[in-house]
Amino acid sequence: MTLQDTRGVRAIRASILHFLADPAQCGEAATEYFEDGVLLVADGKVAAIGPAEALLSGLPEAVELIDRRGMLLMPGFIDTHIHYPQTDIIASHGAQLLDWLNTYTFPAERRFEDVAVAREVAGFFCDELLRNGTTTAMCFATVHPQSVDAIFEAAAERNMCMLAGKVMMDRNAPDFLTDTAESGYAQSKALIERWHGQGRALYAVTPRFAPTSTERQLELAGRLLDEHPGVYLQSHVAENRDEVAWVAELFPWARSYLDVYDRFGLLRPNAIYAHCIHLDVADRERMAKSGTAMSFCPTSNLFLGSGLFDLEAAAAFGVRVGLATDVGGGTSFSMLQTLNEAYKVAQMAGQNLSPFQAFYLATLGSARSLYLDQRLGNLEPGRDADFVLFDLAATPLMARRMEKTSTLAERLFALMMLGDDRAVSESHVAGVCRYARCHA
Ligand code: GUN
Ligand code: ZN
Repeated sequence: MTLQDTRGVRAIRASILHFLADPAQCGEAATEYFEDGVLLVADGKVAAIGPAEALLSGLPEAVELIDRRGMLLMPGFIDTHIHYPQTDIIASHGAQLLDWLNTYTFPAERRFEDVAVAREVAGFFCDELLRNGTTTAMCFATVHPQSVDAIFEAAAERNMCMLAGKVMMDRNAPDFLTDTAESGYAQSKALIERWHGQGRALYAVTPRFAPTSTERQLELAGRLLDEHPGVYLQSHVAENRDEVAWVAELFPWARSYLDVYDRFGLLRPNAIYAHCIHLDVADRERMAKSGTAMSFCPTSNLFLGSGLFDLEAAAAFGVRVGLATDVGGGTSFSMLQTLNEAYKVAQMAGQNLSPFQAFYLATLGSARSLYLDQRLGNLEPGRDADFVLFDLAATPLMARRMEKTSTLAERLFALMMLGDDRAVSESHVAGVCRYARCHA
């Protein structure tokens, strides 16, 4: 490396953990861990990763060395399903899905007609993600096109890789939140042309869920995907029993809720559906075969009383699964707290989520569910340098518990059960530190 080459190159020394494969399939070989490691970052990408001993000796003196020994460095979390306009209604009491939407969600989303509101919330939302160690999210905006501009602008200011889209709803929602099949199509198309592939922005066509779209709107959503290869699709499916019954009434010809989306060409790679709780064998087979992904949203599913996601069934059928907070149905921006609840959901189903499986899910598993694993999700050379430094002794209780651990698995488990935003010491986006916790 010449002196010229070292400008902007940084070496971060810490314990480093990332995944090269799925621990459920590959066991220990899926995990790469350096107790005393170095991550070399250049031009926003990972240049090298390895043991400190090997990497430091060959490093030119001009390279900036950031010593974070004692911290655990991991790839940034990827939240595969979240609603940024619901930031202000997180933790609203007392309802299941359909009442919760009418009582809290729709009035909150109305405010995003005002672009000043959208911008203020979008800025807070991105900062809150970073405070929690989440460097990429796939999020719903509202029906208002300006709400999409606001979230992509806020993400671009922080250089975050963000996936987002305008909600499409042309029935069964208040007038102030509906578009038409044609206007939803035209507005989405204009937003795709403005944003998809600009910097780190990726567009997701976003029909809210089958009950709030006519068949014509779902058909046009499929057309947008056909016309714009590489664009994403996000929606909800089979979250709540009343919702499932409503879909059966609205689409009497469909074999199942999922089948409605299938009929309109909305099951495919780059399509991801939140919840996926009340599914049958044929649905899971169809998701696997079509390359469609599931978002597992444990805090939301418990909070709204929706049901228990079946992780083992998803794995048995070979369906891609990502982890998600689903704020504001979800109750925390923290993916650590989300893993805490994921563990408990698995327990309730007689299943067991290992700590390695859990952190895989929140990083490389989520990247795979979004078909972004060539860019994000782990720290192999060439990947975007999105990473987080965790303080495993962030609280007195964590410090005390960590002292009693003897393996990495035990430490990871204590981190996901006891940790939250307090455990996130720094979040780096494309090699630049965008959040550093102030220790009081
Ligand atoms: N189904 C349709 N819209 C929503 C939403 O905003 N949140 C959740 N959790 N489920 C939905
Ligand atoms: Zn949702």
